[in-house]
Amino acid sequence: MTAPMPFTRIPNPAPATPERVAEVVARPGFGQYFTDHMVTVRWSKAQGWHDPKVEPYHDIPLDPAAMVLHYGQAIFEGLKAYRHPDGSIQSFRPEANAERMRASSRRMAMPELPDELFLGSLRELIAVDGRWVPEEDEESLYFRPFMFATEVGLGVRPSSEYLYVLIASPAGSYFPGGIKPVSVWLSTEYVRAAPGGTGAAKFAGNYAASLVAQAQAAEKGCDQVVWLDAVERRWVEEMGGMNLAFVFGSGADARVVTPELSGSLLPGITRDSLLTLARDLGYQVEERRISTDEWEKKAASGELTEVFACGTAAVITPVGHVKHADGEFSISGGETGEVTMKLRDTLTSLQRGLTPDTRGWMTRL
Ligand code: PLP
Ligand code: COI
Repeated sequence: MTAPMPFTRIPNPAPATPERVAEVVARPGFGQYFTDHMVTVRWSKAQGWHDPKVEPYHDIPLDPAAMVLHYGQAIFEGLKAYRHPDGSIQSFRPEANAERMRASSRRMAMPELPDELFLGSLRELIAVDGRWVPEEDEESLYFRPFMFATEVGLGVRPSSEYLYVLIASPAGSYFPGGIKPVSVWLSTEYVRAAPGGTGAAKFAGNYAASLVAQAQAAEKGCDQVVWLDAVERRWVEEMGGMNLAFVFGSGADARVVTPELSGSLLPGITRDSLLTLARDLGYQVEERRISTDEWEKKAASGELTEVFACGTAAVITPVGHVKHADGEFSISGGETGEVTMKLRDTLTSLQRGLTPDTRGWMTRL
C-alpha cells in the first residue's frame, strides 16, 4: 500500500442515548457492552487490503462454509484507550499490538494487516465513539481488533479472503473482585501450547483449548489456570489471558522474575513494559525459567514474596494462593505485595497521563 487508504464513514442512525452511555460507563464490567460503531477492512488475494469502513455496530453475515467456521483461522488483539486529564484520548503502545497481530497472522498463514490500517482503525473508531471512553480511574475503553477467514469452501488450505474487524467495549476491572489477590490452579493434565505450536500467537483456538482447564480450575475453587510447559510439565508459562511475574526479596533489593519467552507463551506487551518500569524503579529484573517446585519451595521459605499476573485486561493482579494436584500453598499469606502495587501504580499512572511519558509509549488517537 502506498497512499493511506481513506475509511468510508457510515454513521449509526440510532446511536445510544447519552443516558444509556452514562449508564454503561458507570458500571461497564468487562466485554459486555459495545459502542455504536465498528471498523471493517477486507482482504482478498486479488485486491489485497481494501474497502476500509466505519459502520454501525452490526451482525456479520457468514456463509456456513466460511473457512473460519471449519478450520479456525482467527486471531485477535486487545488494547485500551484512556481519557487523559487534558481531555485527549490515548492508547498504550498500540504499535506493539499492530506488530503482534502481524506476527499472529504469519503463524496462522493469514495476511498481515499494515500497521497504518491497524492504527487508523483505532483513530477512526475513537473519532466516532470517543464519548464511550470512561473517565473513572480504573476504567478505559477496551479495543478488540480481530481477523478471520471468510472464503467459502471446505478444502484445507489458507483462505483467500479475510475480514478484519475492530469493536470496542467500555471496561472496568477484569476480575469482579477488583485488585484483590486471585487463586490459581496449576494445570498438569491439560497443556495450552507446545513447542512449535501456536502459543506465541494470539490465536482464537488457544483460548478454546484453555476452557476445559479453566473449568477444572473453577471446580477446584480457583480463579485462573496457570499453564506449564508441554514437555516436562514443570516450567511455568503463563495464565489464560495474562503473563506471570515473581518477586523475590523486598524493598530496594527486590528482584522481578518472569518466565522467559519460550516460544509457547504469549509475548505480553504489559510484561515487556513492566520489565522496563521495574528496572527504572531500581529492581533487578530477570527473564528465565521458573519451575513449580521453585515456586512452592521459595514461597514456603519466604524468599519468594509476591506473584502477580499482568496483561491488558487484568492490568496487574496479585496471585495469593496456589493449588495443584498434590496440595496448595499461599504466597506471603495471600496478601497483596508492595512491589506489585508499586509497579501497578507506575504503569497505570503513565497510561492515564498522570506521569510524563518519557518513552513515547502513549499514542494520541
Ligand atoms: N497471555 C495471554 C494468553 C493473553 O491472552 C494475554 C492478553 O493479551 C497476555 C498474556 C498479556 O498480553 P498483553 O500484556 O499484551 O495484554
Ligand atoms: C487482553 O488482556 O487483552 C486479553 O486478550 C486477555 C483476555 C481477555 C483474553
